[in-house]
Amino acid sequence: MSTLRLIQATLSTISIILIFFFISFSIHYKPPIPTYTNKTTTIQNTSHPYTQFSLLIGIFTLPDKYDRRHFLRLVYGTQSSSIAKIDVKFVLGNLTKLEQRVFIGLEIMRFNDIIILDCHENMNSGKTYTYFSTLPRILSTRYDYVMKADDDVFLRLNPLALSLHPLPRQDLYYGFVIPCPSMNPFVHYMSGMGFVLSWDLVEWISTSLIPANNTFGPEDKLVGEWLNRGNKAKNRFSNKPAMYDYPGTNGKCSHELINDTVAVHRVKRWDQWLNVLNFFNVTKGIKPSKLYNL
Ligand SMILES: *[C@@H]1O[C@H](CO)[C@@H](O)[C@H](O)[C@H]1NC(C)=O
Ligand SMILES: *[C@@H]1O[C@H](CO)[C@@H](O)[C@H](O)[C@H]1NC(C)=O
Ligand SMILES: *[C@@H]1O[C@H](CO)[C@@H](O)[C@H](O)[C@H]1NC(C)=O
Ligand SMILES: *[C@@H]1O[C@H](CO)[C@@H](O)[C@H](O)[C@H]1NC(C)=O
Ligand SMILES: *[C@@H]1O[C@H](CO)[C@@H](O)[C@H](O)[C@H]1NC(C)=O
Ligand SMILES: *[C@@H]1O[C@H](CO)[C@@H](O)[C@H](O)[C@H]1NC(C)=O
Repeated sequence: MSTLRLIQATLSTISIILIFFFISFSIHYKPPIPTYTNKTTTIQNTSHPYTQFSLLIGIFTLPDKYDRRHFLRLVYGTQSSSIAKIDVKFVLGNLTKLEQRVFIGLEIMRFNDIIILDCHENMNSGKTYTYFSTLPRILSTRYDYVMKADDDVFLRLNPLALSLHPLPRQDLYYGFVIPCPSMNPFVHYMSGMGFVLSWDLVEWISTSLIPANNTFGPEDKLVGEWLNRGNKAKNRFSNKPAMYDYPGTNGKCSHELINDTVAVHRVKRWDQWLNVLNFFNVTKGIKPSKLYNL
């Protein structure tokens, strides 16, 4: 008899919970809008607020590379530019797993530095096209320049900005020209390690049929082909020797680390990152404190 009562009581409790649940959903319960702060890594010299131009750096990476993004946020969040407003964002293809939606959701809440493109994750099947062609639609403001960079490149933001400063803001294609020994930016294309397009070229990519018809293949080579076929990018600048591959990793694209560096590519292992950060004295400026003794 008491077992029956227990069952009845349990059943009625469950039905109350179910009703409550149903009501919650039928009134479209919405959580309060979170008040997280906007932590996009905006590199700007606040003591020199007048910026000459703006640059978006899109670092192509994979959703599951959480540790790499964490590390690159440190690398770029500790740099500044005296003349440019630079936004660094990570560019991903479509997410495929629940865990990505949650973990990357957290990154977005905290850092707001993620762009998820409407394409499946890939390297040479149109991600670069999707990136440039959708930016004018999805960004709330234009930039003077847009860069595509790899996640195994170390960029020095102020030297990068200083090198762009004297160059045209229009019809510009900037980077490291391939083949490796070439010094002629008008023959072939800029390496995918990191190349910059002026905003008018980004808009052209988003509207022209030339890139739209030609999105499969080595992504950096294709960009060069689009611009050549479209008779675009009258202004080209190959920044050698300031851009290069890590010493000893890629034949004539590599050379020793040098003072006047904008980009070192193929920095994959920790010992290589250590070498690079150490060479450029990245942590030399740490303020002394009683809290640590480095
Ligand atoms: C967040 O940052 C983006 C990019 O800089 C900016 O466009 C947007 O207005 C910011 N949002 C808030 C709430 O500050
Ligand atoms: C910021 O700009 C001022 C004035 O141009 C310059 O003296 C200073 O070195 C800059 N700081 C950084 C961190 O770039
Ligand atoms: C990417 O995801 C969006 C939203 O889930 C979906 O609408 C779209 O079809 C996906 N695109 C590709 C290429 O998988
Ligand atoms: C692109 O492809 C479409 C459909 O195949 C064709 O009609 C158009 O002429 C092509 N445009 C260019 C610029 O190649
Ligand atoms: C590299 O730069 C540092 C600091 O600006 C300078 O002291 C040093 O002489 C430079 N070295 C070379 C080889 O140019
Ligand atoms: C780093 O610091 C050392 C020692 O002060 C200096 O010799 C070197 O030139 C610096 N390197 C760069 C790239 O500034």
